[in-house]
Amino acid sequence: MRFDVVTLFPGMFAAVTDHGITRRARELGLWQLATWNPRDFTSDRHRTVDDRPFGGGPGMVLMAEPLAAAVEAAHTAQRTAGYANGRVVALSAGGRPLTDARVRAWAQEGGATVLVCGRYEGIDQRFLEACVDEEVSIGDFVLSGGEIAAMAVIDAVVRHLPGALKIESAADESFATGLLDAPHFTRPDVWRGCAVPSALLSGNHAQIERWRREQALARTARERPDLIAAARAGGLLDERDERFLRGIAQGAGGANPPAVLNPSSAAATTAAEAA
Ligand SMILES: C[S@@+](CC[C@H](N)C(=O)[O-])C[C@H]1O[C@@H](n2cnc3c(N)ncnc32)[C@H](O)[C@@H]1O
Repeated sequence: MRFDVVTLFPGMFAAVTDHGITRRARELGLWQLATWNPRDFTSDRHRTVDDRPFGGGPGMVLMAEPLAAAVEAAHTAQRTAGYANGRVVALSAGGRPLTDARVRAWAQEGGATVLVCGRYEGIDQRFLEACVDEEVSIGDFVLSGGEIAAMAVIDAVVRHLPGALKIESAADESFATGLLDAPHFTRPDVWRGCAVPSALLSGNHAQIERWRREQALARTARERPDLIAAARAGGLLDERDERFLRGIAQGAGGANPPAVLNPSSAAATTAAEAA
């Protein structure tokens, strides 16, 4: 897989090439990165890439031509490397929100992508209409530039490339099952008076799986009820799940109240464990 990033700040991408899972995956040859600075595609002495907005208003707008020339250079490099011209994706607060499903599909498709990072007030609309296939947002907030959003895309996609994760841990992560992930605990089993939930120490695989399922249901119901509705519509909840959710709704909190979701229950768990 290959990403070509059009950016005024190529140095920022060391965050994904030099660290963690994305670094390792790159060293394994699972993905490649090339950056293209629009300033290298200007013809004036000052290497100008932006200008004031027509119609007035604050800030500057990235000009179409240096971006278009950078995308064309990226496509040429992709073809030289044996790829078809990659889809051109602009990072934009006004774009389609990035989802887990989109990220997984992106990783499965593989191939090449051109990511275009905006700056300032944004990008000349004519470039977006003529050269960009899709605008993607990483959330309902405004970043100073598209680089961090592009790196979020790269990180999220690369970790789904086969072989990128040492352990195949993506299967039960948040969203993969339609729910948020269950909470995690590690040693010591009592930390500052807080005990690890007893189900996790039981050694009983079925009990642990059920506990994790209920924690995931409880967390999702509390933080993202929209995901519960989607899971229900998608047939991802069974009768046992529904009973548990009804219990939460009635204030029962389930058979094993979630320690992390409800801090007061952590104390209760600790007291029960200590007894
Ligand atoms: C300061 S922002 C421009 C904000 C724009 N005027 C608006 O109100 O939507 C500069 C650049 O950051 C990037 N950006 C900002 N927020 C983003 C988000 N939530 N997702 C993806 N990219 C974002 C885009 O590339 C954008 O062109």
